[in-house]
Amino acid sequence: MLGAEDHSSDNQFLKDVIEGLSQKQKSLSPKYFYDATGSALFDKICTLDEYYPTRTEVGLLSDKAGEIAELVDGQHLIEFGSGSSVKIRILLNAAKGLASYVPVDISREHLFGAAESIAEDYPNLDVIPVCADFTRSFDLPDVVDQGAKAGFFPGSTIGNFSKTEAHDFLAMAAGMLGDGGGLVIGVDLKKDPKMLQAAYNDQRGVTAEFNLNLLARINRELGGTFDLDNFIHDARYVEDKGRVEMHLVSLKEQVISINGTPFAFQKDESIHTENSHKYDIDEFHDIGRETGFEPDRTWTDKNNLFSVHYLKVAA
Ligand code: AVI
Repeated sequence: MLGAEDHSSDNQFLKDVIEGLSQKQKSLSPKYFYDATGSALFDKICTLDEYYPTRTEVGLLSDKAGEIAELVDGQHLIEFGSGSSVKIRILLNAAKGLASYVPVDISREHLFGAAESIAEDYPNLDVIPVCADFTRSFDLPDVVDQGAKAGFFPGSTIGNFSKTEAHDFLAMAAGMLGDGGGLVIGVDLKKDPKMLQAAYNDQRGVTAEFNLNLLARINRELGGTFDLDNFIHDARYVEDKGRVEMHLVSLKEQVISINGTPFAFQKDESIHTENSHKYDIDEFHDIGRETGFEPDRTWTDKNNLFSVHYLKVAA
C-alpha cells in the first residue's frame, strides 16, 4: 500500500450543524449519518426485505462484472466514498489488470481498515487510500493523477446530493478522470411510490433508528442535549421533486442546546435530514451530458428498480 493523504477537517461537523439548525427549515447533512453506529445501522438497512437498492445493485454488478471490468481494466480505479469497500470486490474479482485501486473516504479508520483488507486479499493490486471529503475537490497522488483513470460511485449515493451538488460532483469527477476516463455509477430509479415508502419506513424501525442516531451523534460528539424520545422519524416520497425526504419531527415545543448554543423547536417542526433522489434513465443521461460525460452503457434489473451506468468522459 502506498502512503495516504489526509484532507479531512476537524470542526466542520459543529459548523455544519450550527448552520443547518439556524435555517428556517432546519436541516442536517446526511453525510453525518455515518459514524460507527450509523454505518452499522446502514449495513442493517441494506439487508432489509423492504430496502431493494443494495441487493438489486449487487445483482447487477455481479451479472455485468465481466463487461464492466473490460471498460475499466488497465486504469487506476478511484472509488468515491469507499466505506467498507464491499461492492468493489465484485469488480476487483473480474478486473485483473488494474493500475491501482484508490479508495477515497473521509473516515480514516474505515478507509485504512478496508484498504488493508483489500491489499491482503488482492496481493497483486496496488491499493492507494486517500483520506478526503470527496464532495469537495481533493488532490490525487501523482502516480494516479498522471495515469488513466476510471471512477466507481455505487449505492445511488448521488441520490443523496441536491441537484446542484450532483452536477458539481459529476463535473468535478469528469475533470478529475480526464480524457479517456469513465465513471461506473449506481443510480436508483423512479418507481411506484408505495415501494419507496416501504423502503424508507421499514417495519423493524431500523431506518428510524438510523435517522435518530444523527441526534445521538450530535449529543455524543458536540455536547448536544437532544432527548431522542421527543423526535420521530418521518420519510415520504415527494413526487414533484422526485425524491424521498427524511425528517426528524419534534413531538413538542422544546429548546435544545449544542455546545452552549440554544435552538428552539415548535411542535411538529422538522429537521430535514436527507433527500434520496430517484431518477429516470433519460433524466440521468441528460445530467451526465451536462457535466462533461457521454452516457456509454446502462444496465438495469428486470423490474427496472435500479440502474448502473458507465459514463465516458466526453472528448
Ligand atoms: C446511502 N443512500 C443511498 C441511502 C438512500 O437510500 O438514500 C441512505 C438511506 N437512507 C435511508 N435508508 C437508506
